[in-house]
Amino acid sequence: MLKVGLVGVGGISGAHIPAWEAMEDAELVALCDIRTERMEKYSDKRCYTDFDEMLKNEELDILDICLPTYLHADFAIKAMERGINVISEKPISLKEADVERVYSAAQKNNVKFMVAQVLRFWPEYELLKEIYDSKRYGRLLSGTMTRLGCYPRWSWDGWMMDEKRSGLVPFDLHIHDLDFMVYAFGAPKVAHQYRSKLPDQDYMSVVYDFGDFSINTEASWYSTSYPFTAEFRFQFENAVVAWENGKTIIYLRDDEKIDLSQQSEGDTGSINLPKSDAYANEINYFANCVRNDLPVEKVKPEELKCVLDILNSL
Ligand SMILES: NC(=O)c1ccc[n+]([C@@H]2O[C@H](COP(=O)([O-])OP(=O)(O)OC[C@H]3O[C@@H](n4cnc5c(N)ncnc54)[C@H](O)[C@@H]3O)[C@@H](O)[C@H]2O)c1
Repeated sequence: MLKVGLVGVGGISGAHIPAWEAMEDAELVALCDIRTERMEKYSDKRCYTDFDEMLKNEELDILDICLPTYLHADFAIKAMERGINVISEKPISLKEADVERVYSAAQKNNVKFMVAQVLRFWPEYELLKEIYDSKRYGRLLSGTMTRLGCYPRWSWDGWMMDEKRSGLVPFDLHIHDLDFMVYAFGAPKVAHQYRSKLPDQDYMSVVYDFGDFSINTEASWYSTSYPFTAEFRFQFENAVVAWENGKTIIYLRDDEKIDLSQQSEGDTGSINLPKSDAYANEINYFANCVRNDLPVEKVKPEELKCVLDILNSL
């Protein structure tokens, strides 16, 4: 049974905790947050307000870091130096040099480390990568990726609205799409950015040129209550693959289309995408690597470095 601890019981922990709770051969034994009220509803866990105390008292196999971004690298290294495997929320840091620091600590202490880049485990994005890799609809010609939301006033101590602590839209939001692009298509050759940043809103639009195709991206925290929206549309020679309005549709030539979102009753062998939870997928993947001593190949340090290098150069 893997013993798991989680630090940072804020917004995103609400997606991580159920995944650990659902896992059969793992037990989430301890939580840590400086705000005791965040842990009140977890009466079956040992709760700490001091991270060092949690590390001292618990014998953990895995630490799950859901802290604000600026704390990820140091907390990860501290845990790995105690022989604990670490999965951390994205991004590992705003600084490329921290990637090396964290992976060196993992190697030195013979533990596993992974940044939870969730799109790599998201069925719609996995499908897109499979279509690109297999070339089943021909070459990729163009793409668009969108990630929009509102200004994150809810974050603890306003850390997300503080550029030094979160990196704002590029490092907090757009990084999801850029990370997926680097993972699926490799490093872009050129990037052209337009940015509009005000005290209570942040918008960026970047065109990435990959040589054979380009990808247009948009990410924003609007100052209004604009609903969270994540979408993509990719044009291949023989199909347009779109995830829009919550639906995944492959538009083929001759007006044919395959709607992968449609539920066909009783047809368990249908072509529908699995209704799986990407956060549970990434957590299960990491736990499986730890359990079976497998290399963590799905998220590579050179890809993380490439992404941070691009974001810092925009
Ligand atoms: N993968 C995704 O889809 C996704 C979505 C949202 C956030 N995130 C990432 O998750 C991380 C956390 O974001 P969030 O929205 O949950 O933030 P949040 O502000 O809601 O939560 C952060 C929590 O950390 C706690 N905390 C702060 N300092 C601490 C310390 N020293 N020791 C213990 N606890 C401490 C705070 O009390 C708070 O509860 C960020 O890095 C963010 O980029 C990822």
